[in-house]
Amino acid sequence: MSKEVALEDIVSLCKRRGFIYQGSEVYGGLAGTWDYGPLGLSLKRNIMNLWWKTFVEERDDMYGVDAAILMNQRVWQASGHVDTFHDPLIEDIETKRRYRLDHLLEDNGVNPEGMSLEQMAEALRENNIKSPDGNQLGEPQFFNMMFETAVGPVKDEHSKSYLRPETAQGIFTNFKNVVDSFYPDVPFGVAQMGKAFRNEISPRDFVFRSREFEQMEIEYFIHKDDWRKEFEKWVVDIKAFLSELGLPEESVHEHEVPAEDRAHYSERTIDFMFDYPHKRDELLGLAYRTDFDLKNIERESGKNMEYITKGGGERFVPHVIEPSFGVERAVMAVLVSAYNQDEVNGEKRIFLKLPQHLAPVRVAVSPLLKNKPELVKKAREVYDLVKKEFSNVMWDDNGNIGKRYRRQDEIGTPYCVVVDFDSLEDDSVTVRDRDTTEQVRVKISELSEKLK
Ligand code: GAP
Repeated sequence: MSKEVALEDIVSLCKRRGFIYQGSEVYGGLAGTWDYGPLGLSLKRNIMNLWWKTFVEERDDMYGVDAAILMNQRVWQASGHVDTFHDPLIEDIETKRRYRLDHLLEDNGVNPEGMSLEQMAEALRENNIKSPDGNQLGEPQFFNMMFETAVGPVKDEHSKSYLRPETAQGIFTNFKNVVDSFYPDVPFGVAQMGKAFRNEISPRDFVFRSREFEQMEIEYFIHKDDWRKEFEKWVVDIKAFLSELGLPEESVHEHEVPAEDRAHYSERTIDFMFDYPHKRDELLGLAYRTDFDLKNIERESGKNMEYITKGGGERFVPHVIEPSFGVERAVMAVLVSAYNQDEVNGEKRIFLKLPQHLAPVRVAVSPLLKNKPELVKKAREVYDLVKKEFSNVMWDDNGNIGKRYRRQDEIGTPYCVVVDFDSLEDDSVTVRDRDTTEQVRVKISELSEKLK
């Protein structure tokens, strides 16, 4: 069995099998946007549902919100995003194409970690780096990544709004609402999953760096004296979740982000890195955001963000630990971890060894031959039975049985159930295991139990 996986393998499987397509593909695409097909959507939802169940439903200290994507522009002024949410940009003076300066340095073997804009410009000159088209580059500048839009029919300074670049601010702005409705004890968390938008200078590496993506974020409100203890607890919880996603421990790495590279709001950040095919890169971040956001809201809105302990003993603006997961990066890490190749009967086989709870299709049911009505009838009965137990069951009678197995292996279906002529006599079916390709006979009356 081989674990060598190239980015092209993943991209091609995703397109071929209906996981992920280029956004607006029929019109030549729109860079940095991706559309999920039926199986990709199912995989993505399974990941998001698992996250919600793990971090919200199964805990007593979590509250969910679903805030509007469009927010009052003052949110982004207060948060610092209007002034500081930017990436370094550089332009090819001939073609006018724009590149992300730190990426350009990296691609030319220079590590830009910790460098200021001026230092990056210096490194560019020292190493005589040209644009990918071999042309001279202009002066670097910062480029704000927020998508601007206007709310309402009149476009002026008052109507200005942004597509949110992080879901976090929709949590902070609802902090007081949740406290007033639910009287939670500190520590408690507010969680949100949903779309975020960033006008990335150079979207790349498939869905890894997109302009429209989803986040799953928690703002965990704590007493400031407890931040170290709570931060460490989150490290443990994150690792447990990544293991539930089926990511091998040896492919996940913790990177302590140096002060000069941390986001403007963070006093400590650990990036959880994953060994993607393009390189080891950030899967998710865990940040200690202090009281930066709630204090900013107090300043900008004039509203008090203090938390009062039960009995009124203490008043304080809570500090925050923020685990911030990117859905696309999780989908990609799950696909890379699951992607396997081996040989069956002398033929190369690709299969996705997805954890059962994430597989888009849990069980596929087939009649051995689709032109034999008695087999189809029996297989339909089996299908209805299994579908009642596990909703994500697929009816598959396309092509011959070998082709069906290959297709189901490629989409990560753990079990294929086949109704053959013997089934009509012995009320049993063949169940084939995706990973071992072994086949066993199972009584239909015991099938649901066995599949569980
Ligand atoms: N609220 C904190 C925050 O947004 P971030 O490190 O900028 O922090 C958090 O983003 C996560 O969102 C990243 O770790 C990554 O998983 C995901 N993410 C960020 N930018 C992305 C992009 N352009 N495409 C896909 N995912 C992205």
